[in-house]
Amino acid sequence: MDIRLLRPSDIPHVQHANITNLPENYFMKYYLYHALSWPQLSYVAVDVSRPKKTPYDYPRIVGYVLAKMEEDPPDGVQHGHITSLSVMRTHRRLGIAEKLMRQSQRAMVETFGAQYVSLHVRVSNNAALRLYRDTLGFVNEKVEAKYYADGEDAYSMKLDLGYIRELIMDEEDGETEDLDEGEPVGSAGAKGDETGKSEVNGEKMRKVRVGRGLGVGELVERNESQKA
Ligand SMILES: CC(C)(COP(=O)(O)OP(=O)(O)OC[C@H]1O[C@@H](n2cnc3c(N)ncnc32)[C@H](O)[C@@H]1OP(=O)(O)O)[C@@H](O)C(=O)NCCC(=O)NCCS
Repeated sequence: MDIRLLRPSDIPHVQHANITNLPENYFMKYYLYHALSWPQLSYVAVDVSRPKKTPYDYPRIVGYVLAKMEEDPPDGVQHGHITSLSVMRTHRRLGIAEKLMRQSQRAMVETFGAQYVSLHVRVSNNAALRLYRDTLGFVNEKVEAKYYADGEDAYSMKLDLGYIRELIMDEEDGETEDLDEGEPVGSAGAKGDETGKSEVNGEKMRKVRVGRGLGVGELVERNESQKA
């Protein structure tokens, strides 16, 4: 499985997946608007298990996330929005939707400095609710009555992306640490400092996030003296 950025040439296949999986469908130009305005945020899952026979074979798109930045946020806070997400029935429960969502969320932070991401979901859509709430850590903000064309209500959900900013900073710290070959000098690093590092009984400890959802795990101390 290949998870990569959406290309304009993928759009007919993404539209096909959308029509197959969801009652909310969009004109081609709406997909194009996403792909051209925020090319960093929408991803597709491509089944590459069957090799291409000719250069003209189209990619077998089995999942997609269509995402954007809110252009004029009413709360004045820079944030992303998930317009649509779906995975073909044949490829469900393989973690594809989770990966697509995490890729897009990271790009929202890295590229646009998004503070949070929002979305709407049908109150009856248990699979999507489990994914958003339990796996990804979204919280329900409010119910929007009769949000959908058929009269069903929507949950308006939100996920704070602060944990991704921390993750990126941790990664950057890690890169800097790799370059530093010297021993700590003086008392720096002996006690907990602003990087979250400390020393317990002579063992170097560092605060890290745990838990599958990353956004919901608590900060715990990991013993850095031992290999993972
Ligand atoms: C919702 C949907 C996108 C999930 O895609 P997926 O690739 O199967 O999801 P993942 O494999 O990444 O699932 C991650 C987690 O979400 C939850 N989840 C996903 N599908 C679920 C289901 N049918 N029932 C219960 N929980 C489910 C589980 O917690 C799962 O983790 P687990 O498999 O380790 O238990 C897919 O079912 C779909 O396309 N549905 C139709 C379109 C749709 O409803 N889109 C959302 C519109 S808001």
